[in-house]
Amino acid sequence: MAHTTQLLAFCLACILFQATSLVSAGRQRYAILNAGDEPMLQGTWSSGSGVVTTGANFFNPRTRSFIPPRVPGQAYSFTQDGYWEFAKYRVQPNPRKPECITSQLIWQHGSYNLHANGTLQLYPIAREGAQLLTSSCDTNNPPEEMYDVSEEYTLVDTWVDLHHGVPSSALRLTDAWGNRSPSLYKIYDPPMMLPTDNLYLEYIGIP
Ligand SMILES: *[C@@H]1O[C@H](CO)[C@@H](O)[C@H](O)[C@H]1NC(C)=O
Repeated sequence: MAHTTQLLAFCLACILFQATSLVSAGRQRYAILNAGDEPMLQGTWSSGSGVVTTGANFFNPRTRSFIPPRVPGQAYSFTQDGYWEFAKYRVQPNPRKPECITSQLIWQHGSYNLHANGTLQLYPIAREGAQLLTSSCDTNNPPEEMYDVSEEYTLVDTWVDLHHGVPSSALRLTDAWGNRSPSLYKIYDPPMMLPTDNLYLEYIGIP
């Protein structure tokens, strides 16, 4: 009889233990980030098949020119000490002339703040970012433009997902209007980034 009670107590303890470890696994899998979670933000996060990435494979700061990726997509990189970089390649038909495909390339970088209320603010370094808009029907080579646009997200969440059959960390940025970024999957940690400080000073010598 005493033996049975012991066994019962042991089984109960096992069930309790399993339940607790499931809860903690669940916590690791899904998280809403806020101040102090910068180490979880660290890495290069890329949409879709992960072809678009930040860094020197996407933008050449010396010539201020883009290296267009094979397919469209976007990527964010973050360091745990407060720097970010963004790369985006978008392709779409021109609504007025559907036979003309327009493409947009954007690159920018700067510093970020992840606040206690979960808001993520991205501040670009002024006059460093670049945008290039081209159309397949326009034979002139348009100049690349300056691009520095702040971004603010009120919800940053992360989870582990099967991505192309491999368990991967995913990140999503949601703004105050509820617009969500596509799921961004961590492809590099530490992140693949250009130098996080002022590139003009470093490479070109223009203050
Ligand atoms: C969160 O806090 C930051 C810093 O205090 C503030 O700028 C931002 O507006 C706040 N966001 C919301 C949604 O309250």
